[in-house]
Amino acid sequence: MRIPAETVEQIRSVSNIVEVISDFVSLRKRGSNWTACCPFHNERTPSFAVSQVKNIFKCFGCGKAGDSITFVMEIESCSYTEALKYLAQKYQIAIEEKEELTPADIQAEHERESLLALHQYAQEYYADILHNHPDGQAIGLSYCKERGFLAPAIEKFGLGFALPAWEALAESAKKRGFNAEILEKSGLITKRDDGKIFDRFRDRFIFPIHSVAGKVIGFGGRTLGTDKKTAKYLNSPETPIYHKSHVLYGLFQAKKAIREAENCYLVEGYADVISLFQADIQNVVASSGTSLTLEQIRLLKRFSENVTVLYDSDSAGIKASLRGIDLLLEEGLNVYALNLPDGHDPDSYVRAHGAIATQEHLKAHAQDFITFKASLFLEEMANPIRKAEVIRDIVQSIIKIPDEIKQSVYFQQCAKLFQIEEQILVGEARKIQGKAPKPQEKKELTSPDVQGTPSTLQPANQSSLLPSQQSERDAIRLLLAYGKEWVEKDLPLTFFFLDQTAEINFEHPLYKQIQALMREARTQNHVLESQDLLAHPNQEFTRFVADLSFQGIPLSPNWEDKFNVYTPSEKDLLPKMLSEIILRLKYFHLEKLITENEQNMLKATTDEEIDDCLRMKQHLVQIRQQINIELRMVVK
Ligand code: CTP
Ligand code: MN
Repeated sequence: MRIPAETVEQIRSVSNIVEVISDFVSLRKRGSNWTACCPFHNERTPSFAVSQVKNIFKCFGCGKAGDSITFVMEIESCSYTEALKYLAQKYQIAIEEKEELTPADIQAEHERESLLALHQYAQEYYADILHNHPDGQAIGLSYCKERGFLAPAIEKFGLGFALPAWEALAESAKKRGFNAEILEKSGLITKRDDGKIFDRFRDRFIFPIHSVAGKVIGFGGRTLGTDKKTAKYLNSPETPIYHKSHVLYGLFQAKKAIREAENCYLVEGYADVISLFQADIQNVVASSGTSLTLEQIRLLKRFSENVTVLYDSDSAGIKASLRGIDLLLEEGLNVYALNLPDGHDPDSYVRAHGAIATQEHLKAHAQDFITFKASLFLEEMANPIRKAEVIRDIVQSIIKIPDEIKQSVYFQQCAKLFQIEEQILVGEARKIQGKAPKPQEKKELTSPDVQGTPSTLQPANQSSLLPSQQSERDAIRLLLAYGKEWVEKDLPLTFFFLDQTAEINFEHPLYKQIQALMREARTQNHVLESQDLLAHPNQEFTRFVADLSFQGIPLSPNWEDKFNVYTPSEKDLLPKMLSEIILRLKYFHLEKLITENEQNMLKATTDEEIDDCLRMKQHLVQIRQQINIELRMVVK
């Protein structure tokens, strides 16, 4: 389709560059011009300028410049014609079609357009099924009712239902004239090797995913069944119009509210967005279960400089918040965060407490990131070593803030909160910045859950070890001291321990060697003892055993306080200590598996791989939670 020259001229003349750009970027008035951080490259101080008078934009950073049409082409990565159509629609200019191109040209130029048209069609189709098909009503609408999704939100987010049929959408779209190639390209329909086609989304509740400009570009489908083997969510695959890592769910619906509120709530899931929206908190978007990406943050930054992270309050959610916070800080955003009580996610909180209480809770509990982090580790603040680690961790975050003035405000705040001299913090920051930490040295705060449980085993002077390595050390100490005690008939403690932790390999190089020696000894039916290590040619073993004995037998004083017993009774506590140490090791092992799985997820290319990873994640997180519960019972 060609657009006549005079129409182009008309579009050009009515397009107001400030209006056009404002649909995508938050502009600030600066003298006679407007400025913003450039949406086309990554920057911290605005070098993107817009002249209303000249009707052009220019970025002094990356050099991109042009008029409204250029801008739309760049920002939407679309063709010249598509940009014109977009503007024509914005300014309600009718476009008369003129000469036709060859079918091949049309197909090439309009692949994107066809994909968009198909998605638009599919969205209407799924919505129609939800409202008008008996199955849609019986299954989909009852689900809405059960979840509390009401008509205005169902409408606004275009929710729908995919029938439990193999080719319902495929049939309907073909009838509508969409060709097989586009159906397949869209990922909505899959073709098997034998040529049979079937719908991607079957028997699922449908959440359409929109571009910032409001075009449907993909779908998320939630299973309504209870079969544990079915992934809870299935999403569109990557297509020419949908790149998962570039999209924030709900942004199209939220952008106006975000600008007005000058803040955006960042949540994890589709349902969280919709529930908050219904609670009249409309400035909300979801990162949709992936860890937050740079592209998503840059997208967000176009609308607001302030973000409030509102992730699930399980430990996976807290970890994700901590990671997200640092990334957001690095991109120059002002970051707030809050944690919902009682393991709630935003959706369940709204449903449990209602709109007003939710609004009030969010208002009352949003904290700047320092207070947020400090509050997560509150229980540990009594322990000076952990307190120092937490402060250091917060300093690590503060130095990520690109703006120096903001940085210094946060140093002041941190100093006040922890009652520490600001100079000490700044000095610490210099130290950290001066020496780039080697990867092994980098200390990370582990999940507050396990950290928060008062440890009965940590010797106080082992602060240079990671928590997982401390547990390894504790294990060895326990085994060397009591390895020959019988847990059951004919089963020495060391053997029991080795069986229980067969899949866990110690990380610390020295402890790893000792673990290997113990395992080897076991094959000879021998319990490794201190003497064996002292007799070993490796001097490190000697030093280690000496170190342990120097420390003496007593464990942390907690034991005395709690049980009012003296160290000779340590033996009585053996079963408890043993369980605790095994659980701790398992906990850290799971953390490692979770991290590995997350890395796999980043590397995953197909949707199936991603789904597998997500399923694995849920599984691992569940086990970890279980361990956490057991751990709590043991240390009580
Ligand atoms: N997600 C996904 N694929 C999965 C699991 C999750 O894409 N297999 C994304 C979805 O965007 C989902 C978000 O991660 O909304 C959060 O996942 P989760 O907390 O498991 O789901 P909820 O949003 O809480 O879903 P619901 O309340 O419907 O159970
Ligand atoms: Mn959730």
